[in-house]
Amino acid sequence: MTDRYIVVGNPIAHSKSPLIHTQFAQQTQQDIYYSSLLVDIDHFSEAVERFRIGGGKGLNITVPFKIDAWHYADELTDLARRAGAVNTLIFQDDGSVLGANTDGIGIVRDLIYNHAIHLDQQRILLLGAGGAAQGVIQPLLAENPSLLHIANRTVSKAVQLADDFSDLGNITGGGFESIATQKFDLIINATAASLQGHVPPISEHCLASGGSCYDMMYSVEDTAFVTWAKQRGAVKSLDGLGMLIEQAAEAFYLWRGIRPDTASVFEYIENL
Ligand code: ATR
Repeated sequence: MTDRYIVVGNPIAHSKSPLIHTQFAQQTQQDIYYSSLLVDIDHFSEAVERFRIGGGKGLNITVPFKIDAWHYADELTDLARRAGAVNTLIFQDDGSVLGANTDGIGIVRDLIYNHAIHLDQQRILLLGAGGAAQGVIQPLLAENPSLLHIANRTVSKAVQLADDFSDLGNITGGGFESIATQKFDLIINATAASLQGHVPPISEHCLASGGSCYDMMYSVEDTAFVTWAKQRGAVKSLDGLGMLIEQAAEAFYLWRGIRPDTASVFEYIENL
């Protein structure tokens, strides 16, 4: 019988997850059907419960339900527990629900394997301190950067996050003005500013010579942050399509035990 998976979010119409997972399934000859479901803001648990009782096998969760999913899970992977957010739910054979977070693994794989951007001993600036930022901190620190600095509009959130993860590496936090005189080898945008066509107000000079920029947002046109990066001469100015595909591949692996090839799916989506 065909196994069913969904991605839930609000909005969800433009999600690329069904396309990506359908490609993975074809490539690995897995008999699955993956679709998207728009869920009312206050009805996450009911929608998931309905899907589970109806025989669903697992789901992906996108904005704004990643924290609801964290609460919904019976068990959490270590990464998900510390991220405080879940983007993948796995309905296990014993009836329990496991929550995982594959976003951080997704961005690290995209940076290192797809773009040859190494993080070891690099200075990384992470813009934003919401759920998106929180989800990637542990995997970034695991790559041993010399510094991970979080800058956020609401300074207290950046300081708190730095404090929460201080046992895992050299991590600091502050406001956007806190980086006026520093230089970074990699700047990652995890704010929602791109959605509004804005770039966080960071110094013109904080990108080190030879440095690269990564916007966790994905858009067919260049995002505002990708444009900012190109104008400042970043060696690589990347958006989040690769991360989206890599996080999906990790979720697929957790569900199906098979790791799909991501490069061919990246090419397929880019050429649509
Ligand atoms: P997500 O789960 O997608 O990260 P979120 O938790 O609402 O969403 O966090 C959004 C992030 O984008 C926050 O870091 C937010 O800054 P605040 O913590 O100060 O709210 C940031 N953000 C949103 N709009 C922004 C803007 N126009 N300029 C700068 N930062 C912005």
